[in-house]
Amino acid sequence: MKVAIDGPAGCGKSTIARMIADNFGFLYINSGNLYRAVTYLALEEKVGWRHVPAMIALAQRHRFDYLPDGSVDADGKRLSGELRTPQVDAIVSQVSAIPEIRAEVNAIIRSISEGKNVVSEGRDITTVVFPDAEVKLYLDASAQIRAERRFRERLAQQASDKLSDAPSIEEIQKNIEMRDKLDTRKAVGALKIAKDAVYLDTSDLTIEQVYEKVYKILMARIGHGRK
Ligand code: DC
Repeated sequence: MKVAIDGPAGCGKSTIARMIADNFGFLYINSGNLYRAVTYLALEEKVGWRHVPAMIALAQRHRFDYLPDGSVDADGKRLSGELRTPQVDAIVSQVSAIPEIRAEVNAIIRSISEGKNVVSEGRDITTVVFPDAEVKLYLDASAQIRAERRFRERLAQQASDKLSDAPSIEEIQKNIEMRDKLDTRKAVGALKIAKDAVYLDTSDLTIEQVYEKVYKILMARIGHGRK
């Protein structure tokens, strides 16, 4: 069974996907982290995102895998906190707009998903990666609420990973709005609401309330499949 979740940055899709993975025993795939891993390596190797052939070569040169907690293994190195820095946030959307890099990422997702129960989240999971997913969800929330959520996450991350200063809410909201714009206008893999996706506005809901709705949708689908 495939559960596909799309939505803009900070809508809660990673948290919900992880809860589904934990409670239903599904493999969790955070597709954004693979775009982030390519972006992180580009920054490390000083490859400019505008240099498309070099970016494609970089994505093809490294070996990527997903780890069960949603982090990425790049050539045997676990990447987690490094993927969520302001430097990565600033250019990941531009990197993810390169069609050849999207093809690489999608091939990895499909290959590790084969024959498994999977919950995957991103921007084009319901429309491109798993158009036949049994459950499709589109999670949404206002940009302000999403920025507040990301701000709290970053503070927690800063404390646990001892990372550099967390950006302000205003800076986070600006980045989120910039990425929303780029992510909905991509020529390939743009963020869209699939016709057959359940749309959930999570602005006024706690994560538990969102999960309760999602749980019911999943149980109904699983029950339907058994008939
Ligand atoms: O989910 P996220 O914010 O960590 O994703 C980082 C970026 O990667 C996001 O700005 C858009 C891109 N992305 C994408 O284009 N397609 C996906 N399936 C997942 C993420």
